[in-house]
Amino acid sequence: MSKQSIGIFDSGIGGTSIFKEINALLPHENTIYLADSKNAPYGNKSKDEIIALSIKNTELLLEKNCKLIVVACNTATTNAIKILRETYNVPFIGIEPAIKTAALNTQTKAIGILATKGTLSSELFHNTTDLYTNGITVFEQIGEGIVPLIEEGKTNSAEMKSLLKLYLEPMLNADIDYLVLGCTHYPYLIPLLLELLPKHVKIIDSGLAVAKQTKAVLRQHEFLNIRTQNTKNIFYSNGNVTVLKTILEHKFTVKALDF
Ligand code: DGL
Repeated sequence: MSKQSIGIFDSGIGGTSIFKEINALLPHENTIYLADSKNAPYGNKSKDEIIALSIKNTELLLEKNCKLIVVACNTATTNAIKILRETYNVPFIGIEPAIKTAALNTQTKAIGILATKGTLSSELFHNTTDLYTNGITVFEQIGEGIVPLIEEGKTNSAEMKSLLKLYLEPMLNADIDYLVLGCTHYPYLIPLLLELLPKHVKIIDSGLAVAKQTKAVLRQHEFLNIRTQNTKNIFYSNGNVTVLKTILEHKFTVKALDF
């Protein structure tokens, strides 16, 4: 079992930000990543559509014998992980916006959250927010248009900069001191965000927490790979392979696959 791969999927290339954290913490684990770029963005789709796409991706990863599945997408986690866990007999790791960390640490009692419509409207997101943000102003902003630009390779474009300015302005006016990145595509915006945000605003995402949780669950199931040779990290994309290769800095095998 331990030599089997960790399966990772996202609506596109954003979940590579999670892959990178997992690969840094667990460098000997074999991984298979599915970038469902053909169907990106998931964020504007209905719950049923997100569930159907998550099932499609999960079944492909299970066909490829994955021992554990990381849902490297906040939108898919918040809308579909419950059903995935009920349906398949394999451990699932999900990702949710790091609201709790921001809420526990804010000094200004105002935090911003940038995520997709699908995440912000989900029951799971509302439950977590209600649980931890009593007495705190939570400024929710849908990142409309951000994912398509990243998928097109326009992460550092002038277009992106204007969108971000527009989305950050009301949060900054509300005096946030934490900005939660609630979408796995968004860590790639950090260089631009650092340019746009005042120094005292901290940016947080859940990538490292997901990697740590993956390690803990693998250990708990005795699935950790102790072999240190011939590690394979394979990426499949049903969209633009060039953008995926670039975001991976040409370090890994990327294959085109229609799924
Ligand atoms: N990367 C995704 C997330 O974490 C999905 C974005 C989208 O496809 O809209 O939410």
